[in-house]
Amino acid sequence: MADLALANPRAPKRPAARRNNFELYSWLFMRISGLALVILVLGHLLIMNILDGGVHRINFGFVAGRWSSPFWRTWDLAMLWLAELHGTNGLRTIINDYAERDQTRFWLKMVLYVSTFLVVMLGTLVIFTFDPAITG
Ligand code: HEM
Repeated sequence: MADLALANPRAPKRPAARRNNFELYSWLFMRISGLALVILVLGHLLIMNILDGGVHRINFGFVAGRWSSPFWRTWDLAMLWLAELHGTNGLRTIINDYAERDQTRFWLKMVLYVSTFLVVMLGTLVIFTFDPAITG
């Protein structure tokens, strides 16, 4: 009859939290990066898609002109990094919440982190090495 006993309802499914403040800083980062993204993304949307002819005027020359200014390169770099890290941290939370098997959780997060690394590295490389004088 022993196997009919209910498991302790408070038995932890996962090991106890590590004794550091990572989740606290991650919570704070979501709020701060979210606020920064409101300005960065809405500004980007306004400039690229609405003001002064909007999306119709965007071509190689337009991007080259914009990226001749360190200000806009820094803007785009901040938007890339913050959106990637904010989105990745958000998905990490969702995976932790919904993927129940340890293996599934582990592999979903590995795929997420590898894709984050590739996108951040590729985007950063393009922003830093963009050559307005390219021919072809
Ligand atoms: C535009 C301004 C944005 C603001 C103000 C914002 C704000 C937030 C905040 C406060 C959270 C935490 C929610 C919680 O802990 O319950 C969150 C979660 C999240 N954000 Fe953003 N965010 C913004 C943009 C973005 C962008 C651009 C992405 C994608 C790249 C994104 C993806 C996510 C994801 C996947 C989550 C997790 C959702 C969840 O836990 O259920 N957010 N956001």
